[in-house]
Amino acid sequence: MNDLAKDLKGRDFISLKDFSTAEIFYLLDLADELKAKLKKGEPHPLLAGKSLGMIFAKRSTRTRVSFEVGIYQLGGLPIFLTHDDLQLGRGETIADTARVLSRYLQGIMIRTFSHRDVLELARHATIPVINGLTDLLHPTQALADIMTIREWKGKLKGLNLTFIGDGNNVAHSLMYAGAKVGLNVTIACPSGYEPMPQVVEEARRIAAVSGCQIAVSNDIEEAVEGADVLYTDVWASMGQEAEIEKRRQDFREFQINSEILKLARPDAMVLHCLPAHRGEEITDEVIDGPQSAVFDEAENRLHVHKAIMTAIM
Ligand code: CP
Ligand code: NVA
Repeated sequence: MNDLAKDLKGRDFISLKDFSTAEIFYLLDLADELKAKLKKGEPHPLLAGKSLGMIFAKRSTRTRVSFEVGIYQLGGLPIFLTHDDLQLGRGETIADTARVLSRYLQGIMIRTFSHRDVLELARHATIPVINGLTDLLHPTQALADIMTIREWKGKLKGLNLTFIGDGNNVAHSLMYAGAKVGLNVTIACPSGYEPMPQVVEEARRIAAVSGCQIAVSNDIEEAVEGADVLYTDVWASMGQEAEIEKRRQDFREFQINSEILKLARPDAMVLHCLPAHRGEEITDEVIDGPQSAVFDEAENRLHVHKAIMTAIM
């Protein structure tokens, strides 16, 4: 085991900002390796005998299925736990839940609302905790995104990614991912929907080291010019259901359609974390078109999750 591999064992995976550039590339390389093994039909039971608890307080298709299938392919056992079915749903504390689950499992994946709850779980767990999305961050998604960009473009450093839409959890994690690997990230959003200033500042501090730019703009056309990667996400995230109508109005102009795509570089690729609201943040023409990498991106969640679990559990 090399030093990077040793250093990753037992770590939580809560934010990409907690990982060095070398560690992120180690995880990307491991994901590529595991993807190749799977395609060749080579067994890779690297987590034989280990179990992952998966706590969901929000819905999921990709995260749930890819973690569940992923640990199965690694020889381990997934246990799907909804927040409401656990005693957590009747008031058992996060700390006690963490202490108890640590006696049975070798890892916990959690998708919930408050980022603080994930930090609290990790503080009291003696096993690694993986952030499967909070209101603040979606780090496993961003790792799969940069894996997909590297696959399509052969590199990351110096490329320009423009995220069009809400300055949300996905946008935050993309800024951290880009900053770590030298990928320029611009968030193009309507006024009032900018990413959190603390996240922008922190991403900029990291970007200064890797030599790339993190930008925020309210001008979609200007932001798309010269983009190698266009990215979007839903206008209203889970938990923002009451704001759907207002957001539909506010985000009208913030859609990836053929006209916007033409303003990017001719070989630009398109990403979307999914689920998509077709006809809102992205048109059918674009998501189903030749420049769309969104289903490769969804597939890569599986390979990246396997890499994360293998490295930390
Ligand atoms: N992109 C993503 O996290 O999808 P799910 O909500 O389906 O897990
Ligand atoms: N921003 C979206 C991402 C879903 C994967 C949400 O939080 O609902």
